Amino acid sequence: IDIKALRAVTNGVTTIDPGYKNTASCESAITFLDGEEGILRYRGYAIEELAEKAGFLEVAYLLIFGELPNQSQLDKFHKDIKDESRVDEDLKKIVEAFPKSAHPMGVLASLTSALTAFNPSSVNVDSEEDMYKAIVKILGKFPVLVAWTLRKKQGLPLNYGNKNLGYVENILKMMFETPNEDYQQNDILVNALDKLLILHADHEQNCSTSTVRIVGSSHAGLFASLSSGISALWGPLHGGANQAVLEMLEAIKEDGGDTKKFMAKAKDKNDPFRLMGFGHRVYKNFDPRAKIIKVAADEVLGDLGVEDPVLDIAKGLASEALSDPYFVDRKLYPNVDFYSGIIYRGMGIPVEMFTVMFALGRLPGWIAQWREMRLKKEPIGRPRQIYTGETHRPFKSISER
Ligand code: ACO
Repeated sequence: IDIKALRAVTNGVTTIDPGYKNTASCESAITFLDGEEGILRYRGYAIEELAEKAGFLEVAYLLIFGELPNQSQLDKFHKDIKDESRVDEDLKKIVEAFPKSAHPMGVLASLTSALTAFNPSSVNVDSEEDMYKAIVKILGKFPVLVAWTLRKKQGLPLNYGNKNLGYVENILKMMFETPNEDYQQNDILVNALDKLLILHADHEQNCSTSTVRIVGSSHAGLFASLSSGISALWGPLHGGANQAVLEMLEAIKEDGGDTKKFMAKAKDKNDPFRLMGFGHRVYKNFDPRAKIIKVAADEVLGDLGVEDPVLDIAKGLASEALSDPYFVDRKLYPNVDFYSGIIYRGMGIPVEMFTVMFALGRLPGWIAQWREMRLKKEPIGRPRQIYTGETHRPFKSISER
């Protein structure tokens, strides 16, 4: 699209589109999404195929650099990431300073932003080489920060990873190893997390990704831009939905399991309650990630031998919504986060960490979108507005008011 020509045609007319429901903010070659057909592709590859056949780090490489890596490219990428996985010891003091009750998303956003102070060279990234260095740095250090947010909550000593392990294996070890027991790797957990991270890895111009791009467009550093993205993801209408879903399912269970009662609450326009995990700004027939994750939830819980009554409540809600005119008319279907929390809980991950796990998965997508924006030398993001306030008023001194 010739943006300059388009601007000339519109002759400086300002459009208004709250929530950007119909406005594209950029051109992008990373993720294709067809909301009517329920299609999601990363760089042209179907999400179903990637979730089944690829590993998370391969998908990260694909999203960021545009092609699936061959083995030596993947090995080099992984080695570069591992070489950058050390986090400055002083950052531990910041972690210690948080109250134990702090929400892990707030801790993670703060630590990610603080990384800039310890890695100032990551800010001015004018060449692709500088960008690469900043990218492997954050991919190396972010899992450590994720593990530390959990360990802080659980009162466990802050640790580092093991360079001999795979990327996802290492994350789980950092999260779950304890000083008194030998850590045993569980392949079911590794495979489940790998799949969940791939499903969350990118989703074009959603709220947090747009935030990363707009902050990055001012040439703030990568880590600062990512920290803003983490804050955007925290909200319950976005990534925070996975925590909210589980809390809702628990509340339904505690209340006696009457799903119809909660369906009625969600439909009542005088009640602010929404069925968390339902609806999506773009998917209007089904969320392809939800389809994959529903099957994965059954498999993972089955493999782990976990029987979770909230899975039955979730399935009940989903099938009732399918035949309820309110949900059908508004095209409200379960989204990716309707089932992800159930799997995370089965894996032993505390509810407050669910959105952190989402951030871990979304990291490559945010990086890819930031890199694309910087390489294309996009201008600073600066929306206009329609002013609705007072017209010109004469000033009154304080004694006259
Ligand atoms: N429960 C009940 N009603 C809903 C729900 C819901 N979960 N979602 C939307 N609606 C209704 C709205 O009340 C509105 O009804 P109306 O036309 O009678 O006024 C209609 O459906 C359209 O809803 P909007 O809020 O205008 O749709 P929008 O595209 O702005 O919002 C969103 C999408 C934020 C995802 C919304 O569906 C929602 O709040 N869902 C619950 C939270 C959630 O699951 N978020 C995760 C999204 S996926 C992700 O971020 C990974």
